[in-house]
Amino acid sequence: MRMTAEQLLQCAMKARENALAPFSQFKVGAALLTSGGKLYTGCNIENATYGLTVCAERVALWKALSEGEWSFLRIAVASDGNPPAAPCGACRQLLWEFCGDLEIIVGNTLGAKESHHLADLFPRPFDRRCL
Ligand code: THU
Repeated sequence: MRMTAEQLLQCAMKARENALAPFSQFKVGAALLTSGGKLYTGCNIENATYGLTVCAERVALWKALSEGEWSFLRIAVASDGNPPAAPCGACRQLLWEFCGDLEIIVGNTLGAKESHHLADLFPRPFDRRCL
């Protein structure tokens, strides 16, 4: 049975517990589901230079790509943002390039949940077809 959006969001919430966000205090978790039903999670990881911070989405994406995964269905992103935080511009670019028109579920600790498609959040992208 394929994981539901709610279950995927719960996995993102769980991943959020590992967030290393001592500078912003804004903890984020992500759970990326492959077409084959495998799950890769990530959390944001900040450091003292600030600029080398990596978002939860990219941690999950790098984990999946580095394990040889190339086909993705949806990603859930959990935070305490209200409304729920959606992926930043850099993550939208990379999710688009590596995952295509992914379903993006965003949720928060208050129980709010939204579903979007990356093509709506990231219109008229620059990608390999532009080169
Ligand atoms: N952050 C994420 O991990 N994902 C998002 O979608 C938005 C922002 C992180 C980056 C930084 O550690 C903190 O949230 C505040 O921007």
